[in-house]
Amino acid sequence: MKSLRTIPITLCMAMIMLLLASCGKTVKCESVDIVPRPLSVEMQEGTYKLRLAKDECVCKALDNIPVTDDKTLGNEAYTLTITKQGIAIAASTPAGAFYARQSLRQMIPAEALTDKKVTAVVLPCCIIKDAPHFAYRGAHLDVCRHFFSVDEVKTYLDILAMHKINRFHFHLTEDQGWRIEIKHYPQLTQVGAYRDGTMVGKNWNSDDGVRYGGFYTQDEVKEIVKYAADHFITVIPEIEIPGHALAALASYPELGCRGDHYEVSKTWGVFPEVFCPGKEDTFKFWETVLTEVMELFPSKYIHIGGDECPKDEWKKCPLCQKRIKEEGLKNEAELQSYVNRRIEKFLNAHGRQIIGWDEILEGGVTPTATIMSWRGTTGGIAAAQAGNHVIMTPNTFCYLDYYQSRDQDNEPLAIGGYLPVEQCYNFDPYNGLTKDQQQYILGVQGNVWTEYIATFDHVEYMLLPRISALAEVGWSYDGTKDYAGFLRRLNHLRTYFDAYGWNYGKHVFPSEE
Ligand code: ACM
Ligand code: ZN
Repeated sequence: MKSLRTIPITLCMAMIMLLLASCGKTVKCESVDIVPRPLSVEMQEGTYKLRLAKDECVCKALDNIPVTDDKTLGNEAYTLTITKQGIAIAASTPAGAFYARQSLRQMIPAEALTDKKVTAVVLPCCIIKDAPHFAYRGAHLDVCRHFFSVDEVKTYLDILAMHKINRFHFHLTEDQGWRIEIKHYPQLTQVGAYRDGTMVGKNWNSDDGVRYGGFYTQDEVKEIVKYAADHFITVIPEIEIPGHALAALASYPELGCRGDHYEVSKTWGVFPEVFCPGKEDTFKFWETVLTEVMELFPSKYIHIGGDECPKDEWKKCPLCQKRIKEEGLKNEAELQSYVNRRIEKFLNAHGRQIIGWDEILEGGVTPTATIMSWRGTTGGIAAAQAGNHVIMTPNTFCYLDYYQSRDQDNEPLAIGGYLPVEQCYNFDPYNGLTKDQQQYILGVQGNVWTEYIATFDHVEYMLLPRISALAEVGWSYDGTKDYAGFLRRLNHLRTYFDAYGWNYGKHVFPSEE
């Protein structure tokens, strides 16, 4: 039996042991370097020591910061105040509070993420007032040319969240693969999700002969949508109508003008085989697919594609020509507009709105269609002049599948072009628009097309840090540019890329050799 006197001694020793074990390392935030740049940062006297409980990840410490409801702040806005007494967040929405935490996260040295001994962070007292300029701050991922796992998509979303990007444009259907399970049309994924080979490099005349593919089940889609929502990101699905349809036509050949002999494409490019809008069954297909899509994605916007739809087959198809005649349409461009109008009406009846690539302007658009301007800004400018909403994603500033260096011999193969970080940073979405027209610009988006991007490591390399520059255009736009300041802050942001193990282009960073 233990004597009464030994108990306090044992306790004492345990306490000393605990104390020694908890004597962790303290790191210091040296300067407030945040990407995207906040509206204002006012430095104050003094510091505050934020303790990270043992075994607690930094995110948990951030979740414990108290939030005050401040209705004077706009949607997504926040104030982050650090005093000698503590840290406080004010916001009018959970999104605003989330963005305050993202800013605070960038003030905690990345070392705290990787070094388990770090148990406290010394933060400078300051007041950060912040709000985004654009409501739509997007990033796109093509999961069709190459397929990426649910976990990889979640990592993509992690990267977006850190940059306060709030829209994920999920490009789900293509000539080279259909990637979303549709219960009414099982062949879309049994047949359309796989191709019998992939062209190698830029050799258009042969392929590797290796069966390639994959798709997301509806449960996996729900998991992605939920993960995104938890990070205040809305997932906007894109279902390509009426072009880029080979995978769908290989699954259901009767939906094409020719009606047979389609194959999921092994090469990239634009193909003449598109959906036949002369057939009512094609509309039934689109409406059924979109009904299932709407059940999975709560997004107000559904992207209906509309890009790169050759009209050759429609010109030869008796059913398409009959439709043109019966509907009093002038030509095949107007036939595509007819498709868009019908699909838009269907989606509107379900409380949704359409986004289409700028080609949908060609045969005329309804005033309620939102235009995604990709062939430069010309389409976006024309749309804004006409009073249509616009998302700016011009290839000249926002196509992250382009080379990011002139030294192409030392770069992984890319689709072409040249888009360095500075060019992304210098994008002005309002260029060429009057004050009045600027109100139609909803925001900015970076696009990652994956013809030449086969691995997620490579996706990260193309995305980072160019998306950091576009995130700043979307969040911090005020008509001024300070590239040197951005690079300084980016040099700090990259420490988190390293800590999280995200791959990134290092072209703009000083050499460490
Ligand atoms: C596109 O790049 N075809 C929208
Ligand atoms: Zn047809």
